[in-house]
Amino acid sequence: MPLVTTKKMFEMAYKNGYAVGAFNVNNMEITQGIVEAIAQEKAPLILQISKGAREYAKNSYLKGIINVAVAENPSIPIAIHLDHGDTFETCKQFVDDGFTSVMVDGSHLPFEENIALTKKVVEYAHARGVVVEAELGQLGGIEEHVVGVDDVSKHLTDPAQAVEFVKKTGCDSLAVACGTSHGAYKFKTEPTIAFDIIEEISKKLPGFPLVMHGSSSVLPEFKALINKYGGKMPDAMGVPEDMITKASKMAVCKVNIDTDLRMALTAKIRQVFAEKPGEFDPRKYLGPGRDAIREMVRHKLHVLGCAGKAGECL
Ligand code: G3H
Ligand code: 13P
Ligand code: ZN
Repeated sequence: MPLVTTKKMFEMAYKNGYAVGAFNVNNMEITQGIVEAIAQEKAPLILQISKGAREYAKNSYLKGIINVAVAENPSIPIAIHLDHGDTFETCKQFVDDGFTSVMVDGSHLPFEENIALTKKVVEYAHARGVVVEAELGQLGGIEEHVVGVDDVSKHLTDPAQAVEFVKKTGCDSLAVACGTSHGAYKFKTEPTIAFDIIEEISKKLPGFPLVMHGSSSVLPEFKALINKYGGKMPDAMGVPEDMITKASKMAVCKVNIDTDLRMALTAKIRQVFAEKPGEFDPRKYLGPGRDAIREMVRHKLHVLGCAGKAGECL
């Protein structure tokens, strides 16, 4: 089947208490690892591409790889999504390029400006059958193209504002700031997620799908492998997976994961280089890296509860 939007996926995820995994892709091996996992686990899938990913790999290459993945998996619903579109022009470009979902991230803007930007993107995207994710509240962490705030607890989403925002913009889903942040260093002390905010928003907006960014768990075994084989990530800490599962059973219908895939790939490549210092054939380290991505994604699909749910999302 052709690429789909996230509409049906979110409807089923909300109704049946799970979340769909949205995984970031930057190259062929990452995409293949993710797609092998969803084919094995029969899960719906959102492949997301950041502006940085597109600059790195070129849209034509990424779209080509994704088109093959879609053609080879006709019984799996796959959506292709722009992650963190920061301007109307960027969102327009991705809509025009055939993405089925775009995120307009106006979270850094004052409330009214965020509404105006989001509304403009919604009008353009909806007229072309594309769905829109927006963001209200601010996450922490720093990525190449996404700069967050230092103290996430001061920038959590206000539930009353969320209602006004959704009503005024007509967005299809909303990314909320509930204590998560991007990258591998999410907490300095005990991890905490503001489940009360998720709960309150879902009471005020029943049936409306929420999105959780910054949802990697920085699994201790992968951190240990990276550190063992010459890496240096001693203080890395993520969102514990039981918290991700809890949010997935609530109104959170889309969970964004990038860092955990990066760590799986990095750990495996470091291991190959450490154990075989003479290795110089990229297939001999990218291949195992791709397998590591597949196993990480398979595991995540069970954490999110979406394994086996591809059929009902078609
Ligand atoms: O939200 C951020 C994602 O991890 C993408 O990161 O902009 O470095 O591709 P990136
Ligand atoms: P992580 O850095 O926790 O994987 O979050 C990724 C993300 O939110 C992409 O939009
Ligand atoms: Zn994000």
